[in-house]
Amino acid sequence: MNDSIRDLRKDYTLASLNEVNPDPIQQFDAWLHEAIDAKIPEPNGMTVSTVGDNGRPTNRVVLLRGFNAEGFVFFTNYLSRKGQDIAARPVACMSFWWPELERQVRIEGTIEKVSPEESDAYFASRPRDSQLSAASSPQSEVIESKDILFDRMEELEQQHPEELPRPEHWGGYRLVPDYFEFWQGGPARLHDRFAFTLQDGQWKIERLAP
Ligand SMILES: Cc1cc2nc3c(=O)[nH]c(=O)nc-3n(C[C@H](O)[C@H](O)[C@H](O)COP(=O)(O)O)c2cc1C
Repeated sequence: MNDSIRDLRKDYTLASLNEVNPDPIQQFDAWLHEAIDAKIPEPNGMTVSTVGDNGRPTNRVVLLRGFNAEGFVFFTNYLSRKGQDIAARPVACMSFWWPELERQVRIEGTIEKVSPEESDAYFASRPRDSQLSAASSPQSEVIESKDILFDRMEELEQQHPEELPRPEHWGGYRLVPDYFEFWQGGPARLHDRFAFTLQDGQWKIERLAP
């Protein structure tokens, strides 16, 4: 064991969580806005875990781009590793860690593609450089060198000097939640945890042991 990390220890003392909003979307909205107000870098950065055809989980950080009662949306390449996992098993888990607030949120559910119109609208709103790189990158594939990407970007730039259409393999996914967990760090590692489980259209709220 590496001594320098074995002895790293932080006490969580900022707050306790004794009451949650009965609507987990509103609870999440409040916490996300507190994270934004606290100027946490990339407060909408979340780890998204998926499970492949072989039962093996993987995760990666992506940016949450929107949420409402219908679900939580992020954008990516549908042919990427995560895209292949989701095609095989349309479920995922998202988690947020906001250290400055000593808070963690976990959201689980099923995954669906957002409508092509929603993906078009978001793609059109991105800076041109991001559009070109998204359209050029065969995300998660092995490439021989970065030059391949620069060449593709240049080619696309010439083919589409004005508006670049959204590639079909790039778009949004919506996680439709059936489980939430809100975690607030506490003194003596007695953290507060509240789980929301969807049962017959109602959210059942339970406190979990830390
Ligand atoms: C802060 C941060 C934000 C990211 N946002 C996205 C995103 O919104 N969409 C995306 O496809 N990849 C995003 N990435 C890259 C992913 O982590 C990942 O490398 C990529 O999606 C390929 O993942 P996969 O091979 O598991 O499919 C982000 C990475 C970081 C560190």
